[in-house]
Amino acid sequence: MSANIIDGKQIAEEIRKEVAQEVEKLNEQGIKPGLATVLVGEDPASQTYVGMKQKTCEVLGMHSIAEKHPAEMKEEELLKLVEQLNQDPDVHGVLVQLPLPDQIDEQKVLLAIDPAKDVDGFHPDNVGRLMVGQPRFSPCTPAGIVELLHRSGNPPAGKHVVVVGRSNIVGKPVAILLMQKNDRANATVTVAHSRTQNLPDVVRDADIVIAAIGSPHFIKADWLKDGAVVIDVGTNRVDDATRERGWRLVGDVDFDAAVEVASAITPVPGGVGPMTITMLMVNTIEAAKQLSGIS
Ligand code: GUN
Repeated sequence: MSANIIDGKQIAEEIRKEVAQEVEKLNEQGIKPGLATVLVGEDPASQTYVGMKQKTCEVLGMHSIAEKHPAEMKEEELLKLVEQLNQDPDVHGVLVQLPLPDQIDEQKVLLAIDPAKDVDGFHPDNVGRLMVGQPRFSPCTPAGIVELLHRSGNPPAGKHVVVVGRSNIVGKPVAILLMQKNDRANATVTVAHSRTQNLPDVVRDADIVIAAIGSPHFIKADWLKDGAVVIDVGTNRVDDATRERGWRLVGDVDFDAAVEVASAITPVPGGVGPMTITMLMVNTIEAAKQLSGIS
């Protein structure tokens, strides 16, 4: 058997068309949705992600502000910048790219973002709302995974989903989203991680595997049940001398072998990644509407 490849790029494009129409409608009402991104330091992967977020804003006709600061930036300065963006009426979404350098307390910064502009959905207010089933903004990667499952015809309702990874950005929120009582969720969810005993056996019981552990090719094909659906969130850079840039991106799943066992699988790149950025745009539009009293 060879799995269907879930084309995240194409599904993201579908949603972006819907987003572009929404932007046009808002423009007609004199509202230009605006996103501010804040990058501290020179981490190459973070630079790439922030660059893609900015570019997508521009392509969709949204306003974007790119704040770039040196790795030595003081926590106090970053908090001041966040407050300034909170107050800026042209900015509807504020995103501070993670991880932050060690001298900055990440939770303190996330707490400083106005929850109404927290398009990442990382502020504890928004995490709490998600938990009780009344989300203001769903975190982008988890929301993208829900859309991918829905739009690729792999509904999670009643299925056993095993999430491998327990981060605040992906593992925990995707588990919460998929266990909610609604048509795009209703799953039975297990959250496994690096300390889980007999991890391969736990994964073998999954109808849907969500790999978000951040380790290249960590999940092997013989850990998968025949016909499992595999969502690979990993974006790991590995050395590759055949590429001009010297590296390539691989997921958390051993794709070449898993494709023979799974019924559907997301590629890396071109699976979850484009969805994350798209859901950020969806959240920014939602923020613009809410802040303008439209929804
Ligand atoms: N770092 C990795 N993923 C994300 C994300 O979704 N949002 C932010 N702000 N930082 C990240």
